[in-house]
Amino acid sequence: MNRILLIIGGGIAAYKCLDLIRRLRERGHHVRVVMTRAATEFITPLSVGALTNERVFTDLFDLDDEREIGHIRLARDCDLVVVAPGTADLMAKMAGGHANDLASTILLASDKPVLIAPAMNPRMWLNPATRRNAALLSADGVTFVGPGVGEMAERGEAGPGRLVEVPELVEAIERLLPTATMKDADGLLAGCHVLVTSGPTHEPIDPVRYIANRSSGKQGHAIAAAAAALGARVTLVSGPVAIADPVGVLVHRVETAAEMMEAVRGALPADVAVFAAAVADWRVDRAASDKIKKGAQGVPKLALIENPDILKTIASGRSGRPKLVIGFAAETSNVVAHAREKLRTKGADWIVANDVSHDSGIGGSQSGVMGGDANLVHLVRADGVESWPEASKSEVARRLMIAAAGAIGKSNKGR
Ligand code: PMT
Repeated sequence: MNRILLIIGGGIAAYKCLDLIRRLRERGHHVRVVMTRAATEFITPLSVGALTNERVFTDLFDLDDEREIGHIRLARDCDLVVVAPGTADLMAKMAGGHANDLASTILLASDKPVLIAPAMNPRMWLNPATRRNAALLSADGVTFVGPGVGEMAERGEAGPGRLVEVPELVEAIERLLPTATMKDADGLLAGCHVLVTSGPTHEPIDPVRYIANRSSGKQGHAIAAAAAALGARVTLVSGPVAIADPVGVLVHRVETAAEMMEAVRGALPADVAVFAAAVADWRVDRAASDKIKKGAQGVPKLALIENPDILKTIASGRSGRPKLVIGFAAETSNVVAHAREKLRTKGADWIVANDVSHDSGIGGSQSGVMGGDANLVHLVRADGVESWPEASKSEVARRLMIAAAGAIGKSNKGR
């Protein structure tokens, strides 16, 4: 049974949470609820408690609540924290790290994944302050579902800001919940060193310009986080990204492919190495030491040379090769065929193939796989291909790390 902590914010859409609780419980999830003071103006703790069959928590300084279950335990005794409706005020508190009521304190103290379903007036959603807060929260690893677009409760108001409908919310919640297999996996990688590369590389053209790509680091960072959650010692070598470092992971920040190669070499030996970074294949032969000026010489010609192939170098290393070397293949067509070719030419044990074309439809967002929160991958091995369903990048990461543990003889059988 998965344990969901639902934080109900103060908005007219709070009433939808009553149906949400019923649907989640019907599907076998345990739901515990915290309500903000404003939320209690819209629906009562009594009706919420009747549906959860549990005490509803509303006050940070309630001695009875603290004796029964302290706010820190409330924050940790769950698999997922869901904030719905996510008001502009709650988002601002989360983004600013405030802890001045029970809901914000729990959100600050929690180490669990957080899903927020925003709901507010369209102007509030589009306000630059809310845009900034949403960007900060995304960068911190908070997942968003919605808001939907349409008519508001206030007459004559329409636009983005509606709480998504309950079935969509349930689907988003279940995408982030660990499966039973994943729960069995706690401590599976204890005693192992996992090395992960993540993000893009930046290859300088001159002191102010560089060649880059759209990788956000979300998939690689999720793999590092998943390996750490399974008990591994994790080294993450990351290109320039705007997302937070995963907790409990040693991070080396690099810019170029050459620096990434050096950091990877320095981090070995490892039991498992996962190359999720989108490394630039080429760099400018001689980056200019001064800013290239627009002028009489016309359009500059950039002479490119090949970067070191980090995956290939490590996979073909004679001594100190990790037991399991996993590469990724970012493809825009013939995804599995190209991945098979990369498995052969790069000498990896596994290739995780993903479709990064803009029209892949993965994640239902315009950003697609690169930069988005979801992925649909095919695990390509010498003995066959396993296609996994579309899932959050965290779920793909957990599944990959559990499979990796099995491959290096760290299965959970008999544990
Ligand atoms: O970062 P996100 O926004 O979450 O997006 C995730 C992702 C799409 C970047 C990720 O899932 C992914 O596919 N990463 C690999 C991207 C890539 O560069 O693919 P490739 O097909 O060009 O390279 C194949 C493999 O060789 C990769 O494992 C890559 O890390 C490695 N490589 C490539 C070139 C190079 N010079 N050195 C390498 O090690």
